[in-house]
Amino acid sequence: MLDIRQLGKEYRGATGVVRALRDVTLSVRRGEFVSIVGPSGCGKSTLFSIVAGLATPSEGDALFDGRSIVGRPGTVAYMPQKDLLMPWLRTIDNAALPLELAGMSRAEARTQAGSLFRRFGLAGFERHWPSELSGGMRQRASLLRTFLRRSDAVLLDEPFGALDALTRSSMHEWLQDVWSDDHPAVLFVTHDVDEALFLSDRVLTMSPRPGRILADTPVPFGRPRTIDLYGDPAFARLKQTLLGELRASSTGGPT
Ligand SMILES: Nc1ncnc2c1ncn2[C@@H]1O[C@H](COP(=O)(O)OP(=O)(O)OP(=O)(O)O)[C@@H](O)[C@H]1O
Ligand SMILES: [Mg+2]
Repeated sequence: MLDIRQLGKEYRGATGVVRALRDVTLSVRRGEFVSIVGPSGCGKSTLFSIVAGLATPSEGDALFDGRSIVGRPGTVAYMPQKDLLMPWLRTIDNAALPLELAGMSRAEARTQAGSLFRRFGLAGFERHWPSELSGGMRQRASLLRTFLRRSDAVLLDEPFGALDALTRSSMHEWLQDVWSDDHPAVLFVTHDVDEALFLSDRVLTMSPRPGRILADTPVPFGRPRTIDLYGDPAFARLKQTLLGELRASSTGGPT
């Protein structure tokens, strides 16, 4: 359903040209959970901004069900790397904002957003300001806002990057559970190989900048997965393979 073909991206600035992506080709099938791991600065967020329709590639195309989505924001749901909750809006209004921007009445948007608060572990916090939420709650509020769009394809850029290990781990089981409701296709960026393996059907590894896909590794474990998976020797072997690929790709230092 999501087809990314030979994407390249160059940024031109006062100090010269930065080649962020080179010949990135990948596809995600309906309902599939695919993670991308790669070193910092290899172009993962750049890739997402192109697929989200917010940035244009220098080469190549991104297709959704066969139609180009380049320059067409709104087709896929996108949660950017930074938590973008508006500090002046209550949590419920932050969650409802994209529906309102899409033309829905405020009352209806609030009702739809409110119906998900329990599922996202935020019941009772509808009228709190973002500054009154914990880090994990803020990320769940951002995820709620992203999933509320009920898109068939969702891009999540390091949603748990800033969380402590314990919170992260409980978020993994929770996300797996929420994902299984509507089962959208997910493209998920992370630095964390454990997280990628726990959540994904496939893991793509990316080279240092200019980023390209080095390997496409299927993750064969059944679902639902629990933290017991971390004790599985097959999990440890797969983790070692991925870490080896990442390390081999980055020898020679950052470009
Ligand atoms: N708007 C921009 N203008 C100019 N250069 C940019 C812009 N956005 C990103 N870059 C450059 O493109 C390269 C890739 O950046 P990007 O944010 O896509 O990396 P990333 O893989 O998401 O990194 P991280 O893992 O640290 O989030 C970097 O060298 C960055 O400096
Ligand atoms: Mg990034």
